[in-house]
Amino acid sequence: METKRILLIVSGGIAAYKSLELVRLIKRQGIAVRAVMTQSATEFVTPLSMGVMTEDQVYGDMFDLKEEREIGHIQLSRQADLIVICPATANILAKMAAGIADDLATTILLATDKPVLAVPAMNVRMWQHAATQRNLAQLRADGVTIMEPDSGAMACGEFGPGRLPEPPAIAERICAMLGHSFDSTLTAGRAPTTLEAQPDFADITHRPLFGKRVLVTAGPTHEAIDPVRYIANRSSGRQGFAIAAAAAEMGAEVTLIAGPVHLVTPPGVIRIDVETALEMQSEVEKALPSDVAIMVAAVADWRATEAPDQKIKKDGKGIPPLTLTENPDILASLAQHKNRPGLLIGFAAETEKIIEHAQAKLAKKGCDWIVANDVSGDVMGGANNAFHIVNKDGVESWPDSPKDVIARKLMERVAHALAQG
Ligand code: CTP
Repeated sequence: METKRILLIVSGGIAAYKSLELVRLIKRQGIAVRAVMTQSATEFVTPLSMGVMTEDQVYGDMFDLKEEREIGHIQLSRQADLIVICPATANILAKMAAGIADDLATTILLATDKPVLAVPAMNVRMWQHAATQRNLAQLRADGVTIMEPDSGAMACGEFGPGRLPEPPAIAERICAMLGHSFDSTLTAGRAPTTLEAQPDFADITHRPLFGKRVLVTAGPTHEAIDPVRYIANRSSGRQGFAIAAAAAEMGAEVTLIAGPVHLVTPPGVIRIDVETALEMQSEVEKALPSDVAIMVAAVADWRATEAPDQKIKKDGKGIPPLTLTENPDILASLAQHKNRPGLLIGFAAETEKIIEHAQAKLAKKGCDWIVANDVSGDVMGGANNAFHIVNKDGVESWPDSPKDVIARKLMERVAHALAQG
């Protein structure tokens, strides 16, 4: 019997790692696999890992002349009995539906006359979006077979349809389309994939904050003196961003209200940029209700009472007066709010008597925990922090650690506290 061949197109989504397992299962069934990876797929799985699994060259760059001369895109499809796109992202489905051919994968798909199986995997909202559903309907009408995604908890923390079906189910479907008998005993008792064996993989499945809403403020605020000058502080925003990232990784729905900082938004986090304390307060209120609020921002205590629309000039009449007005205390007002978050956490940046000042702030602000840190060194801009959690039960101190480690520890403590009720 002639060996059946599939051409596997891997597009870029978190489920791409499962394509390695799929290759292993398909080969066990006696089917040959050749792989094409999109540029973004290589962000999730290396062509080297894929090449090891397929025991073949992995194709990716359409403009590699050597490959085009020796084996062009038409030939790649001609040699296959079936083309499988797994995972198929919303993006590649949209390109297919529109007939766009701007890389090797989509060019093959536009040029092929072979049957095509698409195995979508994406966030539930992307799957349910009218555009995706429209594209799927078009592709079905064009003769593409679409495998329905599974429903369940997703790596992005949401729940619903959009998850890649398990590789044995995909392998079975491929066999059915090829008219190749499927031997289920060959898919049992698999070893963990390389990615599953990595410590980070546990983070994808460890989601103790799933279903919780977490609100984080971060960075400094800028208070205008005139259109070009402002009052600011040295907060970098890094600790707050690290906390938002850790909360999102642990499955929370995170809103990050950020003062002016130059930091990349962590994956899965809804970010709202603000400039002043008043704007931050207003966005915090709009983001309620929330299960947890962590106020990491170094909010300016004062703003200029008057900030003229025009630049203040040196007019020879002496130094202009700068009068200040106190900003609202966002943390303290949240503690009194009718929608007060169940767990309200403040940060205290102190240069002396750290625990004493933190205990005083806990009482004054009416929050549940104060996370106190010593900013007498360069903590505000630095990479490390030493922390004390001060609450009604006492003080818990943590040694100097990188801000992302502190963030994860803090969010583990938060998850634990929420689980205790
Ligand atoms: N905070 C706030 N709104 C303000 C000032 C502070 O929400 N207008 C919050 C911070 O985000 C932080 C906590 O209050 O969670 C403590 O901030 P910190 O600057 O240490 O305290 P202050 O109240 O400003 O006290 P002081 O500057 O006198 O130490």
